[in-house]
Amino acid sequence: MKYATLGLLAAAAVAAGCANLERSRDLNNPKVPAAVLAQQVCSNCHGLTGAATSPNFPNLAAQSEAYIVAQLTVFKSHDRRDPEGYEYMWGLSRSLTEQQINGLAAYFAAQPPARQEIEGNRARLAAGKAIFESGVAARSIPACAGCHGAQGQGVAAFPRIAGQHADYLVKQLIVFQRTDERPEGAVMKVVAHDLTPEDIENVATYLQAMPGL
Ligand code: HEC
Ligand code: HEC
Repeated sequence: MKYATLGLLAAAAVAAGCANLERSRDLNNPKVPAAVLAQQVCSNCHGLTGAATSPNFPNLAAQSEAYIVAQLTVFKSHDRRDPEGYEYMWGLSRSLTEQQINGLAAYFAAQPPARQEIEGNRARLAAGKAIFESGVAARSIPACAGCHGAQGQGVAAFPRIAGQHADYLVKQLIVFQRTDERPEGAVMKVVAHDLTPEDIENVATYLQAMPGL
């Protein structure tokens, strides 16, 4: 074989390798760029732009970058161990590198916020709005807006909760209230302690309908 042919073969092999990396679903390959993993793997559940169609999967669109990094890190370290986090996200995050985690967070944080259909009866929405904006003074429940932002848009360690699926919000509020499966959310354990099931439904209904920023 002539050297020229060998050179061409080598070039073709390199090109094929690159093409594969651009379409790879391999969560164990540190060379696969984060945006490729986001589009090839995460999109199956969380949606291509982080707007999940099924309420089983939280929206990641426009989520706080620092919060996404923190959650992927605690899934990977097994510190966040609510049943669905364990079932779905432990395996998926196992081999992600720090660079991939940062890139995945940047990818989803940069997407436009998810918009939900406005659902729920007016009484529920109004009661939820009151909790979000003012808390419940009689039971020492603080206003959610105080930490999550006036529009529920989130900032840094405080996640975006506006426009999130109500089912997921309810599930997480119960996790904080009744378990220690999200130890990083210790502050939410205090917040959620005296929320009634009715309060939880109300505030989740309101948040899902909230357009956010
Ligand atoms: C097979 C479905 C599935 C795939 C694929 C998947 N996830 Fe998830 N993800 C889930 C589920 C379910 C939850 C909610 C877990 C819970 O309730 O604790 C979740 C939760 C998360 C959370 C926490 C969200 C929050 O608001 O706290 C982040 C961040 C996340 N996933 C990122 C990713 C990234 C990045 C990928 C791709 C590498 C990915 N997920 C792939 C199912 C999936
Ligand atoms: C003192 C600050 C503070 C207040 C007040 C607060 N939160 Fe939070 N909230 C947090 C922090 C911090 C987290 C992230 C916890 C973690 O990292 O696990 C969080 C997480 C959450 C989550 C989980 C989001 C996700 O994507 O998994 C929900 C839901 C939530 N808060 C709802 C509420 C509601 C509803 C209220 C008002 C009743 C409220 N929060 C008030 C600080 C606060």
